Amino acid sequence: MELRKRWQIEKKHHNREARAWFSRVDRSKLIQAKDCRLLFGCPPEIKDMFMAWMGNVYDKRILELGCGRGDLAILLAKKGGNVSAIDISEEYIQIVRRRAVLNGVQTRLSCECMPGERLTYEDEAFDLVYGSWVLHHLDLSLVWLEIYRVLRSGGRGVFVEPFGEDIILEWLKSLLPISRIRMGLDTPTEKSLRYKDIWNAQKIFQRVTVHPFGLLSRLDRLIRSPQFRTVLNVVDVKLLTHCKWLRRYAVAVVILVEK
Ligand SMILES: C[S@@+](CC[C@H](N)C(=O)[O-])C[C@H]1O[C@@H](n2cnc3c(N)ncnc32)[C@H](O)[C@@H]1O
Repeated sequence: MELRKRWQIEKKHHNREARAWFSRVDRSKLIQAKDCRLLFGCPPEIKDMFMAWMGNVYDKRILELGCGRGDLAILLAKKGGNVSAIDISEEYIQIVRRRAVLNGVQTRLSCECMPGERLTYEDEAFDLVYGSWVLHHLDLSLVWLEIYRVLRSGGRGVFVEPFGEDIILEWLKSLLPISRIRMGLDTPTEKSLRYKDIWNAQKIFQRVTVHPFGLLSRLDRLIRSPQFRTVLNVVDVKLLTHCKWLRRYAVAVVILVEK
């Protein structure tokens, strides 16, 4: 799809989402809270892995791609990182600017509305680039190169993304009468990552590490119990560790790229 058309669709969808969220949010939640939306939907061990792969953020120059409501950017700024957060949605950017002030991190967190495929930052401007549930909205043939360009030598990128290697499963999902696109929850431009997208990153970066997760935990939508979710997570870890062939069916992946 043509790049500008893709940006238009993403901007419209996420501006609408930002407005809807802001109109109903409890104002106290604008301040970073314990239950904030960090790495939404990831099991605890994946959140820990993501944070560990980012390393010590104190005084680091950090870029978040597709920051949305900005919870993680605010947290990293509170930990002493110098964070730049970008998003295609100007309404999310306005929200993050306001939240940065409310959280007292406006000197450590700057926000800009810009597409991840055309970053205006200089070469090697960052020690760390990260994103949560965002690369699959972007044109990957451009964004891996942009991430490489803005990272300093030895810098790293950490991302969590949906995975869709099994094309039959993906096709069946698209046929459902209640598909997420039809319900207006997903954009028609977004596409779960596949192994070929990761291989493309391997052609660019020194090292790429991938950790797939989530398998049976898809079923937690049927029974919304935290205990059930915990059991499914434990089974998933065992299955994905011991049966490599099952990894293609994983729900999502954490990706570490090193320049
Ligand atoms: C699924 S949301 C994730 C938001 C946030 N990272 C989180 O985990 O809550 C995807 C985000 O990517 C942004 N986005 C979509 N296309 C983009 C692009 N080309 N450049 C920058 N941001 C983009 C959207 O506006 C949205 O905020």
